Amino acid sequence: MSTVKKAVDDAALDQLFRTARTYNGWLPTPVSDALIRQLYDTLKMAPTSGNCNPMRVVFVKSPEGKKKLLPGLKPANAEKTMQAPVTAVMGYDTEFYEHLELLAPHVAKDRRANYIADPELAQRAAFRNATLQGAYMIMAARALGLDCGPMSGILHDVLDHEFFPGGKVVSNFIMNIGYGDPASVRPRAARFEFDDVCTII
Ligand SMILES: Cc1cc2nc3c(=O)[nH]c(=O)nc-3n(C[C@H](O)[C@H](O)[C@H](O)COP(=O)(O)O)c2cc1C
Repeated sequence: MSTVKKAVDDAALDQLFRTARTYNGWLPTPVSDALIRQLYDTLKMAPTSGNCNPMRVVFVKSPEGKKKLLPGLKPANAEKTMQAPVTAVMGYDTEFYEHLELLAPHVAKDRRANYIADPELAQRAAFRNATLQGAYMIMAARALGLDCGPMSGILHDVLDHEFFPGGKVVSNFIMNIGYGDPASVRPRAARFEFDDVCTII
């Protein structure tokens, strides 16, 4: 039997990429806790360097949680975030290397020592891999029929204080999740063509 995989079909490519959009308004359809768990259980299998998995997330659904979010939002992001069924506060653990015994036992000791000796290396790894995991979350959400509205217009200090007390975990960006209101998408903006930004050598 061939091990060469087939491309996913056109409908899947449309849903994941080609017709998927960023939403600024939300239908009142709720998102269950079970679906949020399924979202994480899907994205968690996507790769991070050395399997370091630095992303940490608080999924905000409750009115009390939304109230805590509000002062940490740039004004342009406030209304749509209050309206969204779920807002994921995406953070990363600056001491992610303390979990390598579980995640990468074969190399845990050496890697931990390297990261502790070189804080810049650790910071780059945490930010790079948590951001990748954020992108995986967007694609996993789309694969599960959900829509997203990622946002970097936040006040990091406020969100860190409210959602990641202790200082070890810091905020990266936030992401509204739910079923998007088609009326809320902006006109589709241009993308670079292949030859503008890519080369094959
Ligand atoms: C990391 C990230 C941060 C973003 N920050 C904001 C934001 O603060 N406010 C906002 O309205 N849109 C924000 N966006 C939305 C982008 O502008 C939008 O995804 C992009 O223009 C593509 O839109 P489209 O998916 O509808 O083509 C952000 C998107 C990403 C991926």
